[in-house]
Amino acid sequence: MAARSEWLRTHTCGELRASHVGARVTLNGWVDARRDHGGIYFIDLRDRYGVTQIVLSEQLGDVQKIGPEHVLSVSGEVVARSPENVNSERATGGIELRVERVETLAEAKVPPFEIVDGVETAVDLRLRYRFLDLRRPEMQRMLAHRSRFIGAMRNAFLARDFVEVETPILTKATPEGARDYLVPSRVHPEKFYALPQSPQIFKQILMIAGMDRYFQVARCFRDEDLRADRQPEFTQLDMEMSFVEEEDVFEAWEGVLVDTFREAMGVTVPVPFPRLRWEEAMERFGLDKPDTRFGLELVDAGAWARECEFKVFSGCIESGGRVMGLVVPGGAGMSRKEITALEDYVKEYGAKGLAWWKAGRDGGAGPLARFAAGEAAGNLMELVGAAEGDLCLFVADRRETTWRALGELRVHLGRKLGLVPEWTEGAEYRFLWVTHFPMFEWDAEAERWTSSHHPFTAPEDWDLAGDPGSLASRAYDLVLNGFELGSGSVRIHRSDVQERVFELLGIGPEDQREKFGFLLDALSYGAPPHAGFAVGLDRLVMLTLGLESIRDVIAFPKTTSATDLMCDAPSAVAPEQLADVHIRSVEPGAATRNEPSPR
Ligand code: AMO
Ligand code: AMP
Repeated sequence: MAARSEWLRTHTCGELRASHVGARVTLNGWVDARRDHGGIYFIDLRDRYGVTQIVLSEQLGDVQKIGPEHVLSVSGEVVARSPENVNSERATGGIELRVERVETLAEAKVPPFEIVDGVETAVDLRLRYRFLDLRRPEMQRMLAHRSRFIGAMRNAFLARDFVEVETPILTKATPEGARDYLVPSRVHPEKFYALPQSPQIFKQILMIAGMDRYFQVARCFRDEDLRADRQPEFTQLDMEMSFVEEEDVFEAWEGVLVDTFREAMGVTVPVPFPRLRWEEAMERFGLDKPDTRFGLELVDAGAWARECEFKVFSGCIESGGRVMGLVVPGGAGMSRKEITALEDYVKEYGAKGLAWWKAGRDGGAGPLARFAAGEAAGNLMELVGAAEGDLCLFVADRRETTWRALGELRVHLGRKLGLVPEWTEGAEYRFLWVTHFPMFEWDAEAERWTSSHHPFTAPEDWDLAGDPGSLASRAYDLVLNGFELGSGSVRIHRSDVQERVFELLGIGPEDQREKFGFLLDALSYGAPPHAGFAVGLDRLVMLTLGLESIRDVIAFPKTTSATDLMCDAPSAVAPEQLADVHIRSVEPGAATRNEPSPR
């Protein structure tokens, strides 16, 4: 390589403009595209900042040998392009660099896919060659956006007197409902650290310690089934506050998000965000993460169903279930085939069927028409708010199944009917707080109560009176355009209540001491009332870019089977390394599997 002074860049590949014409400059970068014009070579030279066209002649030497993705240093004079050659789509499109010196800093093998935006190649190949995939301009833009976004959020928390504290990665299990990743201890045979599923207990302890306002860009680890919006390790913007209740947390976050969106994206986020109790969210939208950018809300057809002759419906009401529906405006034009497809769709979510009615005062049409004869037709239309020519779709089932099936159908129809706006630059961000989630959920398989959020969440009624299944909690979610962005709660700051909640979850006194003794101790030394929240940063950044997979905003993500294809992790380790940590492998499947810790 030549002396540093010779090859070192004076400008980036995104920097040169008409004002630089006549300047002598040096650029460093990768060969993007190459065109030959009889002895003259036009090369697009790329770096993170952009692309500049450089012009080389054969006189410079072995120019033909310069292949795609070679790394070059070129020096020469910036010249203006003739008007017909100006590329107005590129910031550097008005100029080109007439090269007088070229040096190949590194050669490159032919890449397995093209380094261009929107490359259509198998995801696995992209992940295996992530170093090339990340060289694509759009990937670099996404990572830069992520960095800018998180930076802005950090500033917003710091400006509000929050203190960033790092909590341990090698720690003890924190129950968030997934399996733990375990790390064996070398010094303590047969003992294990757990990687944190979240910093939950530590941040509560920081409140007890008097830190008052904490936040952290925290890496969390969860061994769970992966989906497009889930990775085994992911990042939370985690926070906690003392001497507060829900509204204080909401206000803090609204302020932080307004500042962050403004600083990182120039977007104005309207505040305050609406607040909706969980029960109302379920009744109106069927899901606890409603997309409120469109209507098509659920309707309650119980009053009609109770009296109607359709035994499936009246029987369902009688046995304590619900008959609810969706009214598709002008949907009577839908074909039987289309409706059958909708029925198949709700069946995936546990519904037994989807009864339909094309609304009409004359009794309408469809399988339900004979149960809506005469006066009943008009009454039913009024009850569900349907007009002539609307399509009414009904599900009768247990409350939870009815909600779920119709909630999912609503989202499906929203997309199918074009009610969900396409994501565009400056898209609409419809945030929403969903509050007072149920305190417990019944796990039929394990035959015990589990926490809907986590066991440190305060109940609405501190006395925990009544049936656990009907208790509301002080847990809340932040929803953005139909995605769960984050969760939090007012916490239990009394050790007696914490013990009772553990008990209700089937964690006996001995287990409590062993697993959470330190928290119970801390709670008995003067815990301030406190509350907090954590946002999934990968999801938030993904949504601000209109993407559908968090993989695209994580530099080195894992596949759906939790492998890192680039470094080939997880991988086998040497027997000596296992011996060091007192582990011997048995045949897969020979060991009995432990159930995940209670949530
Ligand atoms: P929760 O478990 O709801 O709450 O997590 C908070 C947010 O983290 C994101 N998230 C994930 N993102 C990517 N991959 C995953 N596997 C994954 N799991 C969760 C989601 C989710 O809303 N300690 C509590 C917060 C609190 O109570 O303060 C907690 O972790 O966006
Ligand atoms: P069946 O009497 O089972 O042939 O059903 C008649 C119609 O009612 C069909 O369109 C079914 O999809 C619908 N249906 C059956 N069970 C339910 C249910 N639980 N909820 C909604 N629709 C149902």
